[in-house]
Amino acid sequence: MSHGKGISGSLQDDVPMYTTSNGCPVKDPEASQRVGENGPLLLQDFNLLDILGHFDRERIPERVVHAKGAGAHGEFEVLDDISDITTIDMLKGVGKKTKMFGRFSTVGGERGSADTARDPRGFSMKFYTEEGNWDWVFNNTPIFFLREATKFPIFIHSQKRCPQTNLKDATMFWDYLSTHQESVHQLMHLFSDRGTPFSFRHMNGYSGHTYKWIKPDGNFNYVQIHCKTDQGSKTFNADEAAKLSASNPDWNTEDLFRAIERGEHPYWTCYVQVMSPEQAESFRWNIFDLTKVWPQKEIPLRRFGRFTLNRNPANYFAEVEQVAFSPSHLVPGVEPSADPVLQSRLFSYPDTQFHRLGVNYQQIPVNCPLRAFNPYHRDGFMAINGNYGATPNYPSSFHPMRYTSTNASQSHEKWVGSVVTKQTPITDDDFVQANGLWNVLGRQPGQQENFVQNVASHLCNAKAPVRERTYQMFSRVNGDLGATIKTATEKQS
Ligand code: HEM
Repeated sequence: MSHGKGISGSLQDDVPMYTTSNGCPVKDPEASQRVGENGPLLLQDFNLLDILGHFDRERIPERVVHAKGAGAHGEFEVLDDISDITTIDMLKGVGKKTKMFGRFSTVGGERGSADTARDPRGFSMKFYTEEGNWDWVFNNTPIFFLREATKFPIFIHSQKRCPQTNLKDATMFWDYLSTHQESVHQLMHLFSDRGTPFSFRHMNGYSGHTYKWIKPDGNFNYVQIHCKTDQGSKTFNADEAAKLSASNPDWNTEDLFRAIERGEHPYWTCYVQVMSPEQAESFRWNIFDLTKVWPQKEIPLRRFGRFTLNRNPANYFAEVEQVAFSPSHLVPGVEPSADPVLQSRLFSYPDTQFHRLGVNYQQIPVNCPLRAFNPYHRDGFMAINGNYGATPNYPSSFHPMRYTSTNASQSHEKWVGSVVTKQTPITDDDFVQANGLWNVLGRQPGQQENFVQNVASHLCNAKAPVRERTYQMFSRVNGDLGATIKTATEKQS
């Protein structure tokens, strides 16, 4: 016997009407259609199939690391003018505000694991800027266990569960760490009480990696970002953390949600360390080594902003589970440095998100930039934003698009190994072999004529400016060829 409230007719019209997924109102959503009082179920009962089929697909893959987390919406505000060192739009103008979404996490545990485990904490922020989403995918420690990219999956395996017993395994854990001793700096953090923060609200966040910020003159500085909690740093000792793991494994998740609900909106002040390329070349530490910090005595912190988390998600799955951060989600004015771990992360996050959330994960509302226009991204599962309608899906000469200009290259880049983003220009060289083939055709009776006719009968269907450009192209193959094709084509157009 079901409650049948939705169909009683006695409820107000503004009470939502329950329907199947195709919008059809249902008489009794909790009852199934049967053959008689005690008979088997009917395949025609779409409400039942709909509920079961959807339920069967409710789970998506959890994040391969940082699976357990909590998040909230918020706002970033510029506190100080740093226009001398940056061109990033979000940081232009004291008082400028930008909407954002943040997520905190443990690293090694599964989606249901205890919040107070000894572990680094993830510290991810997504800023919905006017020039695209800028993600900070930070940790609560300024350094990491490794400085080579290929070690990450291996390291993570050793910290997660044993392939045989499915247990966390201290031998594996320490076997890896003692044979990869570049981890020791991070271990010092992890095994101090900093490894068990009191809450997400009471910990700092660090870029760890070095990034490049472009200056107004087109040159750049190396930077590292620090976010300092204004709630004060606070930790548990091992006993307190262990007790909470048993009594309230969701302690950190609950703390964040309840604090925001009470109106105690946590905030963090943001600082940047700035180093010139010249300084980097002679710095005591390799600035691309993720196991090292830049000592603040030598490279001081410069304050630039603050962010506040002020709104809880309305739906955990839609917002927190589906949010997709990546160090490659950058905006004009920020570039990755040559840090190899950062470089590999640029690939790994969107790659896992294609798998975890699907190829169109950027269309999910929590990930959607304020403005995105990329009609070359087409189709795929769940292309729900209109799929760019009739806009051409290739660089059409009829629908020009604006592109942004690239940054000036630097002499310092030679020290690093220079990166160039450019297409190979078309030169006369590209036509030499085509001309060779044209001459080969000329040695076989009728072949050149056939070629001209084949092109003409197809090209005649194209629009006039396209035909004209094509004649010019063939003129570069052979002096007369463009004109010959033109004559043959225009007769048929
Ligand atoms: C080669 C090194 C690394 C690789 C390959 C890697 C890979 C990944 C992957 C695949 C995820 C899951 C992302 C998702 O499903 O959305 C992830 C999450 C995360 N990683 Fe890394 N990671 C690396 C190093 C780091 C470092 C050095 C940091 C911090 C400085 C970091 C911070 C995070 C955070 C905060 C998350 C959770 C993002 C969220 O809240 O959704 N990772 N990482």
